[in-house]
Amino acid sequence: MSLTVADVSSATRSALDAIVMAKDLAQLKLVKIEHLGDKSNLSKASQALGKIAPEQKAQFGKVVGAAKAEVTAAFDARLVVLESERDAKVLAEERVDVTLPATKMPKGGLHPLTILTNEISDLFIGLGYRVAEGPELEAEWLNFDALNIPADHPARTMQDTFFIEPLESRLVLRTHTSPVQIRTMLEDQPPIYVICPGRTYRADELDATHTPVFSQVEGLVIDRGITMADLKGTLDYFAQSIFGPDVKTRLRPSFFPFTEPSAEVDFFFNGRWIEWGGCGMVNPKVLEVCGIDTSEFSGFAFGMGLERTLMVRHGITDMHDIVEGDIRFTRSFGVGGR
Ligand code: FA5
Ligand code: MG
Repeated sequence: MSLTVADVSSATRSALDAIVMAKDLAQLKLVKIEHLGDKSNLSKASQALGKIAPEQKAQFGKVVGAAKAEVTAAFDARLVVLESERDAKVLAEERVDVTLPATKMPKGGLHPLTILTNEISDLFIGLGYRVAEGPELEAEWLNFDALNIPADHPARTMQDTFFIEPLESRLVLRTHTSPVQIRTMLEDQPPIYVICPGRTYRADELDATHTPVFSQVEGLVIDRGITMADLKGTLDYFAQSIFGPDVKTRLRPSFFPFTEPSAEVDFFFNGRWIEWGGCGMVNPKVLEVCGIDTSEFSGFAFGMGLERTLMVRHGITDMHDIVEGDIRFTRSFGVGGR
């Protein structure tokens, strides 16, 4: 291969041009391979030095060495420029403004129904009651039979029941919290003072005042000398604590198979009487099923709907608001941040 000074200087020029044209580090890296790598024209010129006449070697050697040094220096200078450009770009792009306000993470909160449940539990704990619980999937016998509601009794159809398959399992989704009365009396000896809040189920359509999944709170007292007056006094205290000191209650004759006598409890609120729940003196037949001596003990029970309680207390007109879990509703109770 022939080697001329012109070849070397043209290789140098195109190398220098390419270095200046490289817009970023990736392009510069390619330029290095092409113009300074083993297969570049300048490297070929160095290799060709070995084959030329000795008298020309020193002169060409100088030309080639100077060319390589010039291109390498240009490369190094461009590298410094492109690196500092990249650093400036990274600093701008990855800039973090530590003075910006943080993303707000609203605190979780309790649902208004849970708050009401806790409030009622605390109220009765203050009166010396204890909180009792039972399963939502309940034995049919505890939900109905033990409460003096036999299979052929019309009262069983008063509450639209979700039965569990297979039907031989004799399990239902409890239609009220009253089976917890039975569980408590079977386990404990009187005196008994319990409050039983919990979820209950009925095959009711969801509408403004009904939901198939709702909550009740049951109260049960079994002791010596308990009368209807104790029931009335307890309900007054309960109502006044929940709805305000001026609220009045009244008992209206009614029927429940597990209480005798039975009553609906209404309270006077915003100028009208509103049904709150059922109550009565525990039917001696129920006490006997649970092995309680009816010559010594008597008792009362009550059961209120918690959604209805919440609706009345807070002027909620539609049950959907309580069950749908929209935080715009719960926020108005101070729940879930603002
Ligand atoms: C009972 O469930 C009786 N166990 C209450 C009781 C307890 C009586 C102890 C005597 C002694 P009732 O079916 O009326 O009674 O239901 C009581 C309350 O539950 C109602 O007043 C209402 O507030 C609420 N309730 C009933 N069905 C629904 C429903 N589908 N949606 C929302 N609340 C309901
Ligand atoms: Mg009723």
